[in-house]
Amino acid sequence: MNSIPTHVSIIMDGNGRWAKARGKERAFGHMAGAESVRAITEAAGNAGVKYLSLYAFSEENWNRPDAEVNALMELLLRYIKGELKTLMDNDIRFVALGHRERLSDKVNAAIDATMAQTAGNRKMTLVIFLSYSGKWDIMQAMKKAAATLSPEEFQAMELPDFDRYLVTAGIPDPDLLIRTSGELRISNYLLWQSAYTEFYFTDVLWPDFREAEFHAALEEYARRDRRYGKVK
Ligand code: IPE
Ligand code: IPE
Ligand code: MG
Repeated sequence: MNSIPTHVSIIMDGNGRWAKARGKERAFGHMAGAESVRAITEAAGNAGVKYLSLYAFSEENWNRPDAEVNALMELLLRYIKGELKTLMDNDIRFVALGHRERLSDKVNAAIDATMAQTAGNRKMTLVIFLSYSGKWDIMQAMKKAAATLSPEEFQAMELPDFDRYLVTAGIPDPDLLIRTSGELRISNYLLWQSAYTEFYFTDVLWPDFREAEFHAALEEYARRDRRYGKVK
């Protein structure tokens, strides 16, 4: 039996459908989704999870209408600034990972400030993936390795050596990956890092995903048999 996963990751999906079902704008769903982020951060910390990572905005999400992208960035900015006190009070380290060059200076400045201020916190690390895609991560890691290493060192690289060039360097691979809203795909998320992750799919839309749903996922994880290709 696995007990509590060290790293839980979530593809937070279904905000738009949640809003639509209520006859509201998609942004209304994103606002409700931000409440779930708060609730699940607290639940994960209380459960003893050490890393909670959340897929908040994919590289492909840049292709949404400008109004929605802007609404998401505004919400994000408000979240990063507004959560600082809660993160400090709860000893949570905040990290944002992704293709940060594509984010605005304003968003990047807020991220840097919150990351710096929470850098010493130890209870849990909250990772927000922003402007992230798994293929991009592997590609940038390869380029970084090629630029850093000599051709001989590059050729001698072993799998664990490659990990340190990914944006997730230093963060253990996710033990459990949850996706809400009934979609059964990975949508270019942690492709390399999820090689042996346990997947949990639920039809619940992200704004409705709260502590009880989170605990149901942890219970299901505890029943999984992780074999890593071996015979047990
Ligand atoms: C998830 O909800 C939030 C982001 C991807 C930013 P969606 O906005 O994808 O909601 P649906 O899938 O359209 O319902
Ligand atoms: C995945 O959700 C990305 C995030 C949750 C940030 P999407 O709603 O963008 O994924 P697809 O388009 O349904 O695959
Ligand atoms: Mg979606």
